[in-house]
Amino acid sequence: MADYLKRIGAGLILLDATPLSYDWVPPEIVGRGKEQEALAAMFAAIGTPGISCRAVITGNVGCGKTVLSRAFGDDISRHLSAIRTITTVHVNCRNHPSIAQVLQRIAKTLDERWPDRGFSSSEVIQGIRRNLRTRNQHMLLILDEIDHLLRREGGDLLYQLLRIDEGRDESGTLSLILVSQEQVLDQLEGAIISRFGKSNHLALKPYTSEQLTAIASQRAELATRHGAVSESILTLIGQVAAESGDARVAIELLEASVKSAEMDGSREVEIQHVDQERKDSKLQTVEPSLVNELLEHEKLTLLAICRRLRRDPEITTGDAEKLYKVVCEEFSAKPRSHTTFWKNIKSLESRGLMVTRMATAKAGRGRTQYISMPDSLPGTLEKRLEQALNQ
Ligand SMILES: Nc1ncnc2c1ncn2[C@@H]1O[C@H](COP(=O)(O)OP(=O)(O)O)[C@@H](O)[C@H]1O
Ligand SMILES: [Mg+2]
Repeated sequence: MADYLKRIGAGLILLDATPLSYDWVPPEIVGRGKEQEALAAMFAAIGTPGISCRAVITGNVGCGKTVLSRAFGDDISRHLSAIRTITTVHVNCRNHPSIAQVLQRIAKTLDERWPDRGFSSSEVIQGIRRNLRTRNQHMLLILDEIDHLLRREGGDLLYQLLRIDEGRDESGTLSLILVSQEQVLDQLEGAIISRFGKSNHLALKPYTSEQLTAIASQRAELATRHGAVSESILTLIGQVAAESGDARVAIELLEASVKSAEMDGSREVEIQHVDQERKDSKLQTVEPSLVNELLEHEKLTLLAICRRLRRDPEITTGDAEKLYKVVCEEFSAKPRSHTTFWKNIKSLESRGLMVTRMATAKAGRGRTQYISMPDSLPGTLEKRLEQALNQ
């Protein structure tokens, strides 16, 4: 084994890395008691058969929208198990940005044998309704990152879902939680807004440094040797992350500091480890699940682009394709056709990973397309992509 790898897995600090990944679902939500109560109040009637409830949760990246809504779904179905059977279905609209995709996802979650194609939206909705009715279940549907869907397709899906029971002698088939970074209600038609109502809006604030320290502390306790991450280190992590109020930053900084301390052969995380990592990371993150869900050649394409965008603000699609071929060689993959390359670029763009713009070429004929990444840090993404491609 190469010498420099010796310390990895030595376990000087780390006992179990799982709680440090942000895909990991914590056993308890830290420091959002009031918000949880507010949500519960909006769903006060959900135990009653025939009733549907609705809520909208908004807030910046990493303020806990996803974890809060999912935990709420789990808690409430457990709490009411004796009274009403509630099935929580969570769909991330960034990964399923069309009405058809969202509906397919719901239908598949409820019934894995649901066919992949062949039904119109209203047929799928009725299929979903029948499925729930037959099993006497109420669905709590969480539409996460719904702004992606609304931007592409407007409020049609919500309209259809809100009318799921219309024209039948039934009511209360589903309850809805909409989750978004933006204040989405404004974008919707009056008919939908009035059915959600202002009082059903929960606006989550960015976390304070104390809350972020508590979140980091929860993970450190479960992941590391007792005493290896001191309270003052956790406080520092909370303070650094408070610049963005993003829990993900706190968790990522904790993980990076622990790794850096272990590489140093230290039995404790020290201030210099946190400082080093905070400088390196620049504290920007992309959901790891987003990277994992990409197809292999989407990953290769994105990696090529990230490498250039680490130095330059933009890259032309022509250059991106050349670099993509180089990256394919590096990972022993056969480059796909020009058409597929284009399809991958469009798909990466629709996932919000990059932005393209057209401009008249400075030299020569025609127009050139430029790619940039205003929302993510190419360096961090590059590392994550390399990891995923090497697995
Ligand atoms: N209150 C909290 N308690 C424990 N973990 C949290 C809390 N808020 C956020 N997290 C963790 O921080 C990360 C980001 O939270 P997430 O719910 O994905 O944020 P958002 O959906 O608002 O971007 C996740 O790993 C989540 O588990
Ligand atoms: Mg989220």
